[in-house]
Amino acid sequence: MIEVDGLRKSFEAVEVLRGVDLSVARGEVAAIIGPSGSGKSTFLRCLNGLERFDSGRAVVDGLSLGSEAETYGRAWARIHRQVCLRVGMVFQSFNLFPHRSALENVMEGPLSVLGLDRAEAEARARRLLDRVGMSDRLHAMPRQLSGGQQQRVAIARALAMGPRAMLFDEPTSALDPHMTAEVLAVMSDLAADGLTMVAVTHAMAFARRVAKTVHVFGDGRIIESGPPEQVFEDPREEATRLLLSNVQAA
Ligand SMILES: Nc1ncnc2c1ncn2[C@@H]1O[C@H](COP(=O)(O)OP(=O)(O)OP(=O)(O)O)[C@@H](O)[C@H]1O
Ligand SMILES: [Mg+2]
Repeated sequence: MIEVDGLRKSFEAVEVLRGVDLSVARGEVAAIIGPSGSGKSTFLRCLNGLERFDSGRAVVDGLSLGSEAETYGRAWARIHRQVCLRVGMVFQSFNLFPHRSALENVMEGPLSVLGLDRAEAEARARRLLDRVGMSDRLHAMPRQLSGGQQQRVAIARALAMGPRAMLFDEPTSALDPHMTAEVLAVMSDLAADGLTMVAVTHAMAFARRVAKTVHVFGDGRIIESGPPEQVFEDPREEATRLLLSNVQAA
């Protein structure tokens, strides 16, 4: 589903991604951990076309994203549109439309991007909000919802586009333990249904339960990858050991 080879990306003079290789099979859950500033968010943003990369290769669901030198102008605009449809993204900060209700937030993409009629878009939104346990708050505005509730609406909103894969960028790091558990339960449910997911997360128990592979970012690269038990209990790299002791101490 996702195949990345030698992905490189600089901001000005600073090389943030220094040759990232990653593959994620259809239906697989990959967890990414790594210290702050190691390039995790930038990597996810490259995968769904929010950010261009300088060189390397990224193929998502058969769609080749191409580096900045290979695809530009209209070719890029076309690829960007397609990749946005195929890959959903959920951020740490929810990013809901503040002046729209939960239901309207989830209906927006299907109405304006997919061209569904109102009744279809509403039926889809109601079904997805029910799936994330939000059917009793359909008409609430984002400011009236807890962080965990807002994040569940954001997940429903991403699912409403019918993505082939979902990317999560620290979806629970702004939440307290109770709300974190609610959101992780939704993510576990999606994983059990066979959705391909890449999640930057330091929720270790979740990663251990749900992820097939944990990838450790360090300094713009993946420094080690393996099944959660192996990476968490017997890491090969000293940097991983240090990261894990910091996360567990937090
Ligand atoms: N738009 C940008 N312009 C310039 N530098 C950027 C930009 N986005 C990210 N960076 C830099 O790239 C590096 C990697 O940032 P990134 O957000 O990908 O790290 P991260 O691993 O997600 O960190 P965190 O765990 O804190 O979220 C950082 O040094 C950051 O300052
Ligand atoms: Mg980040």
